[in-house]
Amino acid sequence: MNIELREPKTADDFALYYDLRWRILRKPWTEDRESSKDEHESLAVHLMAWADNRLVGVGRLHFNTPQEAQIRYMAVEDSYSGRGVGTVVLKELEVRAERAGATRMVANARENALSFYKKHGYDLIDRADTLFDSLVHWRVVKLLSTTRGSS
Ligand SMILES: CC(C)(COP(=O)(O)OP(=O)(O)OC[C@H]1O[C@@H](n2cnc3c(N)ncnc32)[C@H](O)[C@@H]1OP(=O)(O)O)[C@@H](O)C(=O)NCCC(=O)NCCS
Repeated sequence: MNIELREPKTADDFALYYDLRWRILRKPWTEDRESSKDEHESLAVHLMAWADNRLVGVGRLHFNTPQEAQIRYMAVEDSYSGRGVGTVVLKELEVRAERAGATRMVANARENALSFYKKHGYDLIDRADTLFDSLVHWRVVKLLSTTRGSS
């Protein structure tokens, strides 16, 4: 499958981008579309993954400090999960973070995504927040400077 990464630019791009994010990450729990946005949207790096002429995945990067970058809102269409889309998005966000000077990546991983992050070299640090009283998250971290050049 050919996966192409793009940054959303137009209003239509952002509508598709936020719609996928909300449908995959929030819709089962809330109708509130704003619940899948936070205060970092305007400065964050947003990535869209396209395949078969449709948007199939998204991911976002923001900086907590100049050294620490955070991944949020990784989401892949159900029918495309397990086909490498999340991996392509995550790797590019890591490249962008490292290029901007970050030395560590963090994320708050849902339990179902924990093994995805572990597979990509993230270590579990601690329990993080719980969303909608049920979605337990785990803080994961990866040191970028020590992994440069690895797969
Ligand atoms: C988690 C998610 C982003 C992964 O993206 P993806 O495109 O499905 O993952 P990929 O196909 O690139 O990589 C999957 C690899 O991680 C592993 N993996 C572990 N947990 C996984 C999970 N929950 N979903 C998919 N793959 C998972 C797979 O076994 C696979 O390894 P392999 O290549 O050796 O077979 C995606 O499944 C998703 O959107 N899930 C629902 C929303 C979500 O939980 N987002 C994360 C919020 S923290």
